[in-house]
Amino acid sequence: MKPDLRITPGPINPGDPTKGLLRFLTCGSVDDGKSTLIGRLLYDTKLIFEDQLATLEKDSKKHGTTGEDIDFALLVDGLEAEREQGITIDVAYRFFTTDRRAFIVADTPGHEQFTRNMATGASNSDAAVILIDARKGVLTQTKRHSIICALLGIRHVALAINKIDLVDYDQATFERILADYRAFADTLGFASVTPIPLSARFGDNVTGRSDALAWYDGPTLLDWLEGLDVDTDLAARPLRFPVQWVNRPNLDFRGFAGTIAAGTVSVGDRVVVASSAKESTVARIVTADGDLATAGPGDAVTLTLADEIDIARGDVLALATARPEVTDQFAAHLLWMSEEALLPERQYLMRIGNKYVPARVTALKHKVCVNTQQHLAGKTLELNEIGFCNLATASPVAIDAYADNRETGAFILIDRFTNATVGAGMISFGLRRATNVHRQDLLVDRAARSRIKGHKPAVLWFTGLSGAGKSTIANIVEQKLNARGIHTTMLDGDNVRHGLCGDLGFAEADRVENIRRVGEVAKLFVDAGLVVLTSFISPFRAERRMARELLGEGEFIEVFVDTPIEECIRRDPKGLYAKAQAGQIKNFTGIDSPYEAPEAPEIVVHPGEGGAQDAADRIVDYLDRQGLI
Ligand code: ADX
Repeated sequence: MKPDLRITPGPINPGDPTKGLLRFLTCGSVDDGKSTLIGRLLYDTKLIFEDQLATLEKDSKKHGTTGEDIDFALLVDGLEAEREQGITIDVAYRFFTTDRRAFIVADTPGHEQFTRNMATGASNSDAAVILIDARKGVLTQTKRHSIICALLGIRHVALAINKIDLVDYDQATFERILADYRAFADTLGFASVTPIPLSARFGDNVTGRSDALAWYDGPTLLDWLEGLDVDTDLAARPLRFPVQWVNRPNLDFRGFAGTIAAGTVSVGDRVVVASSAKESTVARIVTADGDLATAGPGDAVTLTLADEIDIARGDVLALATARPEVTDQFAAHLLWMSEEALLPERQYLMRIGNKYVPARVTALKHKVCVNTQQHLAGKTLELNEIGFCNLATASPVAIDAYADNRETGAFILIDRFTNATVGAGMISFGLRRATNVHRQDLLVDRAARSRIKGHKPAVLWFTGLSGAGKSTIANIVEQKLNARGIHTTMLDGDNVRHGLCGDLGFAEADRVENIRRVGEVAKLFVDAGLVVLTSFISPFRAERRMARELLGEGEFIEVFVDTPIEECIRRDPKGLYAKAQAGQIKNFTGIDSPYEAPEAPEIVVHPGEGGAQDAADRIVDYLDRQGLI
């Protein structure tokens, strides 16, 4: 086992107050000398303690790859062990400080499959050091790292052309690599790219200049890091205050607690709630250490306002003169972080600022090849893929473009069942059509329509395997309801797939869209005052839940037709199981496509045991008992 030589984070010395803290990311694989470079930087800035140095010297002789010299890579490679334990998002942050500035370095593994890790590091960084091995030049990996950096909003890049000693400090090699890089990176939109020839192993141009590189008159890496002017001045941006919670300890106090994401706020400022455009004036800025007159980015404060206006957790307060856009549809780059592919039209939970809102990807416009920046067609995003999408949220949200504000222009998507973060997004722009299409208020509503029918509307949502008996039972139920004068209608999978959903197949994404459409249509029929019977396999919990959430309490009745697959295969009413087992039909539910059984359906029936008639009787019974009919 390697000794643990990691640097313990020291106290951050604010250094030159005009320069402040710089967060940067290093990109490149271990082979490019990334660990050696960081080790060298820490060593040359005297951040290694004496005892660590002694161990390092001893260790370099034993395990090192650099002969008698110190192997700086050993300093940072202690982290590899941690990585092997399979931590999903592992970004190692290291802190160091010089007289002029404090630094946080994000270090991420370089392998291809770690796009999401690199993205995590990049989203927290202001600048990137992209390493290139002078012998190898610009590689696919260099391009991938650059593309991800650009997407994640990094504006300044140092192109560290490392191992320059191994090409005899040759200027022509340096120039050639630089020309290659510029040809590719010109379209990425970095604000600056600074090429630096260096040798991490021997220290040339890391912290000190080098005679061997006399032809180079640019900065050393440390000069660059210390001198870089990054536009991190969040205070100069428009105010964004995402409300984290409403603090109402008693009737006399109502405050809105949160952390200022951008801009400053002062007592007396006129502020608006972005989503409702309701205005008021800031009365107090309360903190644990007393009131403030003005607060800025990163400050955790509680604001009180002069007027009683509706504000809830997740709302964003802004100055009346510089508001964020409020929309329920926008375009964004989305990085997929889950083993389970993205399914357009599936409902996920979006967290944007402090707001949680159901959201779906309505269109995957294209995938971005992270190696070439090419746009590729695609129906889904797999783990580590990046796509450009249109998204729709269940209610309007306040957004900024990520390029304008990395705090309020970013969001994550969460799986509604596992609560895992499955995607990270960077907003490009709101979609105009969303702001121009408004809902029309209707004078005759659902209740008025149902009143003249003499019964409540509802959806009886039958789910189960193909051949389970859904349609048979649903038909009997409809007959019984019809005989009792109940207004009904039926949506049946096989029928709908000839019309409304005639364009869809049986891939997961198609099934998601099939059920989304059926859910919306069922809702329209409920609005019309009908009892709707739907008979679809509807194999995924997420879409059944979406359909449920379109309706009111008690209006969605999930009926699980629980016929075991063996029984369905034996019955095989349409001969489809035989074909699926012979491999003639692909993606067949229960054979090579999953069925997620309901966890808490209102009704479960087993037609295999009591027959379809009995199952239908039980369902009508349930409706009677619920007072629906
Ligand atoms: S769902 O999964 O999208 O809900 P739906 O209920 O509309 O499916 O359609 C299922 C019906 O389509 C089945 O009853 C069967 O008759 C037919 N079918 C054809 N191919 C498949 C398949 N690969 N998987 C399931 N059903 C299929």
